Amino acid sequence: MARLIVVSNRVPLPDKDGSPPPGGMAIALNAALKRQDGLWIGWSGEVKPEEKEDEPPRLSVREAGGITYALTDLAQKDLDEYYNGFANRVLWPIFHCRVDLAEYARHEMSGYYRVNRLFADLLMPLLQEDDVIWVHDYHLIPLAEELRKRGCRNRIGFFLHIPWPPADILFTVPIYDTLLRGLSSYDLVGFHTDYDLSNFAECLRREGCGDLLEGGYCRAYGRVFRCGVFPISIDTAEFETLAEQSASDKALRMTYRRIEGYDVAIGVDRLDYSKGIDQRVEAFRRFLHANAHRVGKTLLLQITPKSRTEVPEYMAMQKDIAELTGRVNGELGTIDWMPVHYINQSLERRELAGLYRMARVGLVTPLRDGMNLVAKEYVAAQHPQDPGVLILSRFAGAARELDGAILVNPYDPEAVANAIERALVMPLDARVERWNAMMTRLREHDVYRWCDEFLSGLRQA
Ligand code: UDP
Ligand code: G6P
Repeated sequence: MARLIVVSNRVPLPDKDGSPPPGGMAIALNAALKRQDGLWIGWSGEVKPEEKEDEPPRLSVREAGGITYALTDLAQKDLDEYYNGFANRVLWPIFHCRVDLAEYARHEMSGYYRVNRLFADLLMPLLQEDDVIWVHDYHLIPLAEELRKRGCRNRIGFFLHIPWPPADILFTVPIYDTLLRGLSSYDLVGFHTDYDLSNFAECLRREGCGDLLEGGYCRAYGRVFRCGVFPISIDTAEFETLAEQSASDKALRMTYRRIEGYDVAIGVDRLDYSKGIDQRVEAFRRFLHANAHRVGKTLLLQITPKSRTEVPEYMAMQKDIAELTGRVNGELGTIDWMPVHYINQSLERRELAGLYRMARVGLVTPLRDGMNLVAKEYVAAQHPQDPGVLILSRFAGAARELDGAILVNPYDPEAVANAIERALVMPLDARVERWNAMMTRLREHDVYRWCDEFLSGLRQA
């Protein structure tokens, strides 16, 4: 069988404290790759020491959790320009429709292309003739073009883990055309939703350089390649088991005892402006104001690990959210009750599963999100006979699939506040019916199916 070579910026190796990095892409792929023979190439998470900056980049190979990784350190300048710069200060905000936050700098764009060339140089000598290459996410859009320039004839697929924006928004990236052209070097380009795919096609049409063809193909820049919709998912069975086990885990129960007995609404998000955390805290505050009988009985458990701490917008958020939660707790809290429990660190999946299960409401209200795996994990963790209710932003890719959720507009705090009360009073039979509909979908469409469908599409391309 052909080897699978996965390439992504982030890989799910545990960090210095032993916790896996929070983030949907690495977590989903980790689950999928355990079942495949292959190699995962990416950034080690380490900065190349200054005294070694002039040495040629190398890959160091290591095994972890049944997967073989080939990892490279990146020089500080590369990280600043490629990762903290163009990827996370231009592509991330613009693809999430936050043109106001984008900071474009030409040298950072050059750094982005330089690191993509570096990845191509590292990858080329490892390739065997029938290897299938699967590239992930916005950090590495130009990689196939760079590999082709070096003579690579392998099948190469690309999956975008974030939304594809509408044409007018993409066109605010000064080099949007080179990004579009870069994607045409792949054999298959995958998106989470039909909305993302149709935005992509609209960009090609408006630019006059391509269009969708019949049967899931696309013609652009003189090349024909496949395009499709592949909604990412979770290891549903594993999450169900984790959540069941947490119920009988004494140590976990001891940890949770302070919040037992309260009606808990849970939010789990990397500290990122796309997640709508401040709007959510404000909605929760309004919910308490509007429902005096819930004061002292309900709490918001907001788990928010730090993310991209060297990017200015993320640094500012770190302070803003801490202040906001402090303000709400000061305004409404009492000696024996705090409305918002804000945890600014990463929790293990086992702990998350238990917390999801004890929460009566899953509050997943991003302003824009490619998919949002937390929404799916919350559903999978519920007790079948007494499930909680998912409140889900209509701007998350998951809203296309999870029709048993209460869908909300995250920009409307009163609507979210009303949805929380509606979730808390929802009768058992309605909760079970909604949950069953979502679980049927998640059991059929788990992360393994996502992976198989993408790879079989790529093999046919
Ligand atoms: N996550 C985690 N620990 C945490 C917070 C989040 O392991 O403390 C995981 C979470 O379970 C989910 C992923 O990080 O699998 C977040 O993926 P999602 O698609 O929701 O958002 P992303 O971070 O990719 O934008
Ligand atoms: C999202 C992106 C991933 C990224 C993750 C965590 O899920 O789609 O590519 O890995 O966020 O962000 P980070 O910058 O820490 O890798």
